Amino acid sequence: MSATPDRATPAAHLSEKTMPYDLPQHEAERPRESADRAAPAIAVAGATKTYRAGDQTLHVLRDLHLDVAPGETVAILGVSGTGKSTLLNILGGLDQAEHGSITVGGVDLRAATTSRLARFRAESIAFIFQFYNLIPTLTVSENVLAGLQAARRTTEADEALVMDALRSVGLEAKAQAFPQELSGGQQQRVAIARALVKRAPVILADEPTGNLDRATAKDIIALLVDAARRRSAAVVLVTHDPSILAEVDHAYRLQDGRLVAE
Ligand SMILES: Nc1ncnc2c1ncn2[C@@H]1O[C@H](COP(=O)(O)OP(=O)(O)OP(=O)(O)O)[C@@H](O)[C@H]1O
Ligand SMILES: [Mg+2]
Repeated sequence: MSATPDRATPAAHLSEKTMPYDLPQHEAERPRESADRAAPAIAVAGATKTYRAGDQTLHVLRDLHLDVAPGETVAILGVSGTGKSTLLNILGGLDQAEHGSITVGGVDLRAATTSRLARFRAESIAFIFQFYNLIPTLTVSENVLAGLQAARRTTEADEALVMDALRSVGLEAKAQAFPQELSGGQQQRVAIARALVKRAPVILADEPTGNLDRATAKDIIALLVDAARRRSAAVVLVTHDPSILAEVDHAYRLQDGRLVAE
């Protein structure tokens, strides 16, 4: 399926924005943790992934290498169908590579048991899905709270964290709305708030700005880059938008199953 970005989000949908997009105050005041540059948060060496359909074999990833340090943001570009979502799913413990070494957040994903992988996904990964994956029967704030519940038991202070996260993506006023009452770009921003509130050491974002206008997309990327630097998180984001490359630390193109520097 094609994922051509829809940049036609009407400006009216952005009227509830509370610019500029700032990180929550309590977080902005916190000193940046020192990143251990020697230990990458993501280390992939020689990963391969093959799909088989009948007698057809599709080599999606071939001998793929990727290192991302804590605090770094890496962008991955590539035409539709080259394997960007497949790579992100493997990094997030949602899919398995066939060969190679894949260590994320200190966990060897190819050696991990099913229950270890479940704990890894809950505690170590904030995933922003290409098609948002919001829960339709929960309100906006309940969806964001679900990001916290996945990681740990919630506390009374969490309501403030949820509102901080919604404010950071300009959606404070939509806290009680349901996903179906939001535009595509607004749903995308809820998914981003849900990922940010979790404070995971690794943030994986599959076309997080695909439904946003250029200006909002730039703000959202800045928010992710800033979250990475302040929290020493590693961020991998898939994008079709070359204009965001100036904002990230490294950019690669997924081509013939490998990453090449952009
Ligand atoms: N479960 C599957 N079974 C068979 N083939 C698959 C499966 N999942 C993905 N593929 C194939 O693997 C290739 C990579 O798919 P993937 O979704 O990773 O691409 P992508 O780069 O994210 O594309 P897009 O930019 O359109 O989102 C595609 O050719 C797709 O058809
Ligand atoms: Mg994809």
